Amino acid sequence: MSPSAAAAPPAKSYSIASIPADGIGTEVVEAAITVLKTLSETLGTFAIDFTHFDWSSETYKKTGKYIPDGGLDELKKHDAILFGAVGAPDVPDHISLWSLRLAICQTFQQYANVRPTKVFRGTQSPLRNCKAGDLDWVIVRENSEGEYAGQGGRSHRGQPWETATEVAMFTRHGVERIMRFAFETARSRPLKLLTIVTKSNAQRNGMVLWDEVAAEVAKEFPDVTTDKMLVDAMTCRMVLKPESIDTIVATNLQADILSDLAAALAGSIGIAPTSNLDPTRKNPSMFEPIHGSAFDITGKGIANPVATFWTSAEMLAWLGEHDASEKLLDVVERVCEKGIVTADLGGTAKTVDVTNAVCEEIRSLYGESK
Ligand SMILES: NC(=O)c1ccc[n+]([C@@H]2O[C@H](COP(=O)([O-])OP(=O)(O)OC[C@H]3O[C@@H](n4cnc5c(N)ncnc54)[C@H](O)[C@@H]3O)[C@@H](O)[C@H]2O)c1
Repeated sequence: MSPSAAAAPPAKSYSIASIPADGIGTEVVEAAITVLKTLSETLGTFAIDFTHFDWSSETYKKTGKYIPDGGLDELKKHDAILFGAVGAPDVPDHISLWSLRLAICQTFQQYANVRPTKVFRGTQSPLRNCKAGDLDWVIVRENSEGEYAGQGGRSHRGQPWETATEVAMFTRHGVERIMRFAFETARSRPLKLLTIVTKSNAQRNGMVLWDEVAAEVAKEFPDVTTDKMLVDAMTCRMVLKPESIDTIVATNLQADILSDLAAALAGSIGIAPTSNLDPTRKNPSMFEPIHGSAFDITGKGIANPVATFWTSAEMLAWLGEHDASEKLLDVVERVCEKGIVTADLGGTAKTVDVTNAVCEEIRSLYGESK
């Protein structure tokens, strides 16, 4: 048999757990699965299959649990998790968040939360004079401790002297690992610039440890330039000098807030992705849009699926499919450039229109006749 006649090696195959959960989460995850299957079938360079997990507020209301007994062991068998959003009007948010999303992030030690933001070609930032390319950031959020460590409690419930504490927890181990991850991320980007966000003027314990560990880790990365900003001043810089920012590292709460601002400055929360990574790769990582379940638009078919498409591209890159990842993101930008965008970006397209347009663009650019 001549070498050219030899069978092509089998494409790598990935098993993805899908957890659409609530509200528009179900709509955007369905759209992303359609696009990922089209990409896999068209490129032929990787195979992908999805196992659906019906973990949602509906399940909780029926069974009293978001995650059934043994559920996390099942989840762990997959290469990655594609998540929608959790939250329902008739379940308190702290129950839904802690029982599903945080239960996964914390158990699987997904300590690095990565949130890229940019102005897509064909979309508009609300900032005057901010064009595609002027705003291109990666926010690295500490995802395992800090203000969301779950430390604290309530005493004397119902009494006038009722007390509640919410203790932010910073460990040397936790800060060191996220700083190292953030420096590595900054090193991989063109500007090699890391802004360390802090609030050590007012918070004189945890945040001072944060600053000290950042300075120690910086010595291992002489090729990365750093600057330090108080979180309040950072909001002004994001609005006034977006081009001066590249990679940002911040605590769990601070980065949570800054990344919503970042998403709005890039045009809409409907395009912003997030990856919850276990950089040790001992556990599957989880990919999701930043947005929530959006009660106000659920069932209307107008949710922007772009954030979930972008997070799907991030998932492919994490799995090692860099070429497919870059192609998917480029295709999504091409569709935006054609003006096929949902109402949050000023368009009239529905979720299904954007999804179909992305699939058509994939086939037209990479289909067999090409
Ligand atoms: N990761 C998560 O699962 C997550 C994140 C945030 C909020 N939540 C939950 O979601 C519920 C609603 O929260 P919220 O209203 O604060 O935030 P949200 O992100 O759901 O909605 C905020 C606003 O942005 C709009 N929006 C969000 N995503 C959009 C999209 N893809 N396309 C177009 N418009 C979009 C919504 O219509 C709404 O007006 C709550 O229960 C909350 O706890 C979950």
